[in-house]
Amino acid sequence: MRKRTAIFISGRGSNMEALVRAAQRPDFPAEIALVLSNRPNAAGLKFAKSCGIATAVVDHKIYAGRNEFEAAMAHILAIHRIELICLAGFMRLLTASFVESWRGRMINIHPALLPQFKGLDTHARALAAGVSEHGCTVHFVVPEMDAGPIILQASVDILPGDTEASLSARVLAQEHRIYPLALAKLARGEV
Ligand code: GRF
Repeated sequence: MRKRTAIFISGRGSNMEALVRAAQRPDFPAEIALVLSNRPNAAGLKFAKSCGIATAVVDHKIYAGRNEFEAAMAHILAIHRIELICLAGFMRLLTASFVESWRGRMINIHPALLPQFKGLDTHARALAAGVSEHGCTVHFVVPEMDAGPIILQASVDILPGDTEASLSARVLAQEHRIYPLALAKLARGEV
């Protein structure tokens, strides 16, 4: 049975798109059963709908707090019988209790070679630090931000003349390559 997977997004959703396309292959071990966004106007929702994938908007702004917001998400995940979660540009921090309830079943993609450059603006920070290599990481989500066990990483060389835009584009291409590989490993029980 293919693992019923939800993808959480907040915006563009290009990683979600890469996961959806990979999961369209009949031999892929996960099925994208739900795309959930905390932003009603997230661009990625259109693509998910155009593929006939169930979508949900859980707008964090209308809830009294994080617990209520997460309870609403948990309810929708249960309705869709979700087994795995991929965070893909989901810009809300999750509580320790939500994270614990998905321990080993929720993964994230981060645009840096963790443990380097946790948090935001990773490409600008990598350029400013003068490192020669940069990249991306798929990791299990734990309560501490950008800190869980690493599943896969891909690195790119930083080239002379690189800008934040050129570097982020090169890293993004690697994100789109490794996120489906990592989800497949998780769904097959290989990690
Ligand atoms: C990606 O760079 C991802 O690594 C980071 O947020 C960005 C989301 O981009 N967590 P997209 O929405 O997948 O296009």
